[in-house]
Amino acid sequence: MRSNWKQRLKATKKAIDRRGLLAAAGLTAACSSGTKPAAEEEMPSELGSAVSAYGERSKFETTKRLVPDLKRPQIGSTTTPLADTEGMITPASLHFERHHAGVPEIDPAKHTLLVHGLVERPTVFTLEDLKRLPSVSRIHFVECSGNSGREWKSPGAGDVQKGFGLASCSEWTGVPVKLLLEEVGRKAEGKWVLAEGADACRMFRSLPVEKVISDGIVVYAQNGEAIRPSQGYPLRLLVPGYEGNTNVKWLRQLKVVDQAYMAKDETSKYTDLMPDGKARMFTFVMDAKSVITTPSGGRKVGGPGFHEIRGLAWTGRGRIEKVEVSVDGGKTWKAAELQEPRLPMAFTRFRMAWEWDGQPVEIMSRATDESGYVQPSREELTAARGMNSNYHYNGIKAWRVKAGGEVESV
Ligand code: CO
Repeated sequence: MRSNWKQRLKATKKAIDRRGLLAAAGLTAACSSGTKPAAEEEMPSELGSAVSAYGERSKFETTKRLVPDLKRPQIGSTTTPLADTEGMITPASLHFERHHAGVPEIDPAKHTLLVHGLVERPTVFTLEDLKRLPSVSRIHFVECSGNSGREWKSPGAGDVQKGFGLASCSEWTGVPVKLLLEEVGRKAEGKWVLAEGADACRMFRSLPVEKVISDGIVVYAQNGEAIRPSQGYPLRLLVPGYEGNTNVKWLRQLKVVDQAYMAKDETSKYTDLMPDGKARMFTFVMDAKSVITTPSGGRKVGGPGFHEIRGLAWTGRGRIEKVEVSVDGGKTWKAAELQEPRLPMAFTRFRMAWEWDGQPVEIMSRATDESGYVQPSREELTAARGMNSNYHYNGIKAWRVKAGGEVESV
């Protein structure tokens, strides 16, 4: 062992700079630059910039949400650059947006939450009241049910941001809905809860009371600070695992009722038209989904050799149990490594070492969640649901790596 090490040292003695050591470890293909630390003359001799009150990222970092060119940008969406995020948390500044009537400006001192309907004690809560109550912080994804919607018609979503960026994951802090409903004394016949927002369209959704009691949170903070105006400042509802639209922003009332209200956003919208002309309604749960973010459409693989395939998986049915990756167009699959902790209804990062021989390949990922649900292929999904849907697309996504390293959507 020792002599082996000595031999290797001798062999690499002439190439003792960083690049040489990496070459000895077989990693040159993955590392293309840096033969020395920054030269002395490049080091600053002046003081850097001053301390500041609120942080900014480096000017060299330019990743952004994608803002589409819309006639009425108040009624639109922006997407998270998932291929440029690391780990499981989306910075609040990059969390996707989807608004139905723009972002209202709300003074938190004047904002209240009314909890009423089939309850013993209808109550108006100020933000101050809510912050005095026992709180929880939980990490959950939010995904618009329209995420990946273009894949229904053609699987041509050019890149991860355009095709998958209506999903983000944050740490959310607030008061469990369970506690609020106990405070007001929900009556037994109260089986649904209407959640209404304070935006100009008075967005509201009907939600089954069991779900909001088990998982719902009235949220006032995201990733350690107040939620941002575009995320519902000063208050939003979080219904983990349910389609994004149910996570009502600028929350102003929760009304306990005996049946669903058939609101605009649960009849003409957010329903799924099946091949027989009937529509699936109240399709709340976001099924298991995954996508390889590195390498991915529009990006380039930097030459043959060692790479790490990375991606994200999530499910509205609890934890991600397994993510398999294929690097041969779906012929064979291998389990990827899952980053812990794997939290229920949160992004799970997966990784797999990959040695690319420089030949064209198709790569793809397939998620399985703890309920046993397996992410379907495009063929399986469209066979079951037809092609009329706009929402809830979660088919397996393939990327083609071409001989030159360019990656395109398949
Ligand atoms: Co739905």
